[in-house]
Amino acid sequence: MRIVLVGPPGAGKGTQAAFLAKNLSIPHISTGDLFRANISKQTELGKLAKSYMDKGELVPDEVTIAMAKDRMEQPDAEQGFLLDGFPRNVSQAEALDVTLQDESMNLDAVLDLEVPEDEVVKRIAGRRICRNDSAHVFHVTYKKPKQEGVCDACGGELYQRDDDSEETVRKRLEVYHTQTEPIIDYYKAQGLVVTISALGPVEEVTQRAMEALKRED
Ligand code: AP5
Ligand code: ZN
Repeated sequence: MRIVLVGPPGAGKGTQAAFLAKNLSIPHISTGDLFRANISKQTELGKLAKSYMDKGELVPDEVTIAMAKDRMEQPDAEQGFLLDGFPRNVSQAEALDVTLQDESMNLDAVLDLEVPEDEVVKRIAGRRICRNDSAHVFHVTYKKPKQEGVCDACGGELYQRDDDSEETVRKRLEVYHTQTEPIIDYYKAQGLVVTISALGPVEEVTQRAMEALKRED
């Protein structure tokens, strides 16, 4: 299956993507994680991305689209993929359509995670990420690690993302409403959007998502 996951910052896209990708045996492709990996390796792309991410703005389309395309062309993505955080505006959605058409492929569904803004703010404020792997995501209240500040999965140090400050989160939400939400209408016109509530325990949201995706299959 080829799936796009959309939702505001802190909706739980990364959390759900990890379970969904495993259940569906497809790779989880997160442009945010790809940028963070570049930042920790201090590549030129990482330096450029950080200057935008720290302000809560989108990284320019040109580099983002090239990076996402390169990842989608890896052998493990031949049978499908779950995109998390890409596309993030209408031009990225159009670029994705062109890439898929060139390969005679199409999307199966766009899963839209709906969460009220006050919940998003709570989720982001308590989020802690592992230094070794940004897919290892915890929450100080909702998903407490066994030992404070230590990753359950690999023993790595947990830290708060630089872009999770209150001011940057406000900016990210504004960017979501103005630039990313329009892609929901773009995909509605293609009949691809399934909206689910992302409230409640993580496992319940995963179950809801799996049922919604089964209906689209
Ligand atoms: P990105 O990394 O994509 O961040 P985001 O979209 O802001 O989303 P988040 O990672 O903040 O949240 P999430 O929805 O994954 O939530 P999570 O699962 O962690 O992008 C960061 C930046 O990179 C952008 O601002 C931009 O600069 C740049 N960028 C990335 N892609 C780009 C693109 N395509 N174009 C241009 N620029 C791009 O969950 C949040 C917390 O809630 C966690 O602590 C988790 O444990 C907890 N939680 C999850 N589910 C539940 C639940 N059901 N109940 C209680 N708690 C929960
Ligand atoms: Zn870890």
